[in-house]
Amino acid sequence: MSLDEPKGHIGLTLNGDEITVPASPTARLSEVLRESAGALDVKVGCNAGDCGACTVLLDGSPVCACITAAGQVQGRRVETQSGLVAQDADAARLAQAFQRHQAAQCGICTPGMMVSAVALLRSGETLTEERVADALGGVLCRCTGYRKIIAAVLDASTAPDIMTEGGVGARVARLDGWPKVSGAERFGDDVAPADALVVRVIRSPFHRAGFSFGDLDAFRHESGLDLILTARDVPGQNLFGVIPGFVDQPVFAVDEARFKGEAVAAVVGRPEVLDAMGAFPVSWQERDANLSPTLADTAMLLHPDRAGNVMCRGLVARGDADAALTRAAHVVSGDFSTGFIEHGYIEPEAAVARRVGDRIEVQCCTQAPYMNRDALAGILGLTPDAVRILPTAVGGGFGSKLDLTAQPYVALAAWKLGLPVRMAYTRAESIASSTKRHPSEISMKIGVDAEGRILAARFDGIFNTGAYASWGPTVANRVPIHASGPYRTPNYEANSAGIHTNTAPAGAFRGFGVPQSAVAQEQLFDLLAEKLGMDRLAFRRLNCLQDGDPTVTGQVFDTGMGIDACFDALKPEWERALADAAAFNAAHKQTKRGAGVAGGWYGCGNTSMSNPSTIRAGVTSDGTLMLHQGAVDIGQGSNTVIAQIFAHALGVPLSQVTLIGADTDQTPDAGKTSASRQTFITGNAARVAGEALRAQILRLGNVGDGAAISFEDGVIELSEGDVVRRIKLPKAEGYALEVVESYDPPTLPLDEKGQGSPYAVFGTAAQMVELEVDMELGTVKLLRFLAAHDVGRAINPLLVEGQIEGGIAQGIGLALMEEFLPGRTENLHDYLIPTIGDVPDITSIIVESGDAHGPYGAKGLGEHCLIPTAPAILNAIAHASGARIHHLPATPDKLRAAILAIKDRSST
Ligand code: FES
Ligand code: FES
Repeated sequence: MSLDEPKGHIGLTLNGDEITVPASPTARLSEVLRESAGALDVKVGCNAGDCGACTVLLDGSPVCACITAAGQVQGRRVETQSGLVAQDADAARLAQAFQRHQAAQCGICTPGMMVSAVALLRSGETLTEERVADALGGVLCRCTGYRKIIAAVLDASTAPDIMTEGGVGARVARLDGWPKVSGAERFGDDVAPADALVVRVIRSPFHRAGFSFGDLDAFRHESGLDLILTARDVPGQNLFGVIPGFVDQPVFAVDEARFKGEAVAAVVGRPEVLDAMGAFPVSWQERDANLSPTLADTAMLLHPDRAGNVMCRGLVARGDADAALTRAAHVVSGDFSTGFIEHGYIEPEAAVARRVGDRIEVQCCTQAPYMNRDALAGILGLTPDAVRILPTAVGGGFGSKLDLTAQPYVALAAWKLGLPVRMAYTRAESIASSTKRHPSEISMKIGVDAEGRILAARFDGIFNTGAYASWGPTVANRVPIHASGPYRTPNYEANSAGIHTNTAPAGAFRGFGVPQSAVAQEQLFDLLAEKLGMDRLAFRRLNCLQDGDPTVTGQVFDTGMGIDACFDALKPEWERALADAAAFNAAHKQTKRGAGVAGGWYGCGNTSMSNPSTIRAGVTSDGTLMLHQGAVDIGQGSNTVIAQIFAHALGVPLSQVTLIGADTDQTPDAGKTSASRQTFITGNAARVAGEALRAQILRLGNVGDGAAISFEDGVIELSEGDVVRRIKLPKAEGYALEVVESYDPPTLPLDEKGQGSPYAVFGTAAQMVELEVDMELGTVKLLRFLAAHDVGRAINPLLVEGQIEGGIAQGIGLALMEEFLPGRTENLHDYLIPTIGDVPDITSIIVESGDAHGPYGAKGLGEHCLIPTAPAILNAIAHASGARIHHLPATPDKLRAAILAIKDRSST
């Protein structure tokens, strides 16, 4: 420590300003910068040096602030994203390039990415893709697939040319992008007041355990805690969940904890009090746990009040699958499995709550503000209108931030204490307790006639739904509808079951079980093509659903079934890739090249359920056009897409729209951000609202349908050719003009055989990949992807590409590297997600087949993007090496063993 600094302080230069802040020399620099110096653009994703979100420049060199001791920076120069963009011309240009390329989606990784990139730009080195990937290699991104980040850095010196105007079809930069690239964005842990108390949750260290508490009052007193919470302190219902009839997860476990990481109590106090606190007085009685899902009745019951561990089942049956399989010319079958997949968003769950009179306000990173509101009201014993949810920016969600996490704990504590209370999950806590992708065990059999037409498929899948239901019923219902893939399958039976085990709840994760079923179906398709002696893409193309064909639920789409166009778009490159692989393999022995292809489909919105969205818009007396847009933007771009649709429908430039973001007091319910529903459903609500407001204005001006509208200074200007009319807006308390419009997609319930119309819209996709397999090591090197997606109509092609690239990156993880092992996986160094070096070049082909229901023909996209990725990779691995991987992930040890097994078989 310098003699110049007061004891317990450090002095440094932060973004050009000399500051002195209170800090222990051993404190994490990230914590000191955030909590004492107000540098909230330094993000914390792991506190372990794994994610790079906390990257700052220390005397010009990038370091992870979370593993840098504050004492090391005494007297030194620290630069962060916000300071760099404000003060450094190169960094400012880089920020513009990030905007231009949409290199920031959720934006939580953006500070780390940009700071690392600035160090590279300052080095004056020649920029190449490899050099950029190397320089940014320590920073993880879960949203973008990295390709647009690399493009932005390579393009950082180009003059800014950002598209800010445009309606449907325009590559407009995201409207909420500048805060993300300038360091101003505020996420769940960035919005707490300085004096907020902190909650820490006491969690079960065992997969299953009874427990009892010691003297909690004495412990609270001795420790100086403000509050201890257990189940007895929950004034309302000590349960939460997301599906009516399946609300079964305790806020605090009672008597028995059912998974490792389950909450049993919480302590509330000042951070220094919590740090000094001794062992919490709880004694555990570890019990035998059931970690593997089984349909057997003999399995130990998770919930003794229920008849068994099967949470729910799903069925779709059409024709007679078993009979048709017996008359098929060729039949293939196989067993496949996938493990738990962690969402791995870079922002851990965080929330802050305040009591405001008889209401509670919660700021949190959530995908579902109204569902959070209603669930918290139930827990607190309040009416829903006594709860206000103000979503912060969300640093990645992918389904898991639909469920409650920190919200009940901060809300209960703030409600009882009348003081602001905050909580941010540690990475270990997030991984242990948040929902996961359902592990699957699938058996599938498919039969075709002699010409290669699919006659029948039979699918049986069990899904480990963990200790509590979460979105398990959705997975069990959705999978049988989708397990055929987007192909004509006249005879079909698909059975699914969600089964409880003593593991973290499995919930929603991009695709709701469909990526798992595609791993089985699309691999079997390759085996069928092989038996038929057909080209693999041609086999799929032959069987594609067409307009007018019934799906496996008997639903018929007259327009918009675009899977054939997706495969057709791949065909020229597919033929080139097969020829390239053949030539390469003839010349190489240790490394073999392969090409893989797969298709996928996904029904947008809830399955056979009403799921409306509502949009409100108004014009103030001074002529400001306000759009109350409650569809939470978790990085996918709903703030921009919904505004583009609304502006297009109203017939005004996008720049005239002022967004009011999600807030349950300010924005009507636009439903949850999940199931690829926002562009389709909230987009339709925005279209209807724009049209209604336009009609209102044209009526007011008594002008024709083609009149142009603009707003300025308390006046609406209406132009028809050379004639211009100016209408003065009336003085009003609220809006001078206002519309509130809703859209609910037309769906029908399924009957007992799963027949019906579960979705108004299906999106489809086909992807191909080229890769190389090292036949000695079992390693896989991805070379390139080509992805054709039928989005109906691309509202914003830039955002469409971002979704495709990000989805493919997550599919790569599913195929090759990711698996959460309950009780063993604790951080991002033992749960590996794709890095910048793992995602190869991706070319997106946007297919626009239109849709009868979507706004201007647009369909949803988010889930679809990763569904074909893993099976395409597995098919390419099999093409290259001959080894077919049935049990994911296809790690080098598994692939090497499979290659050796083939060699052993061929040598005996
Ligand atoms: Fe520092 Fe993740 S927060 S590396
Ligand atoms: Fe990179 Fe979300 S934009 S983690």
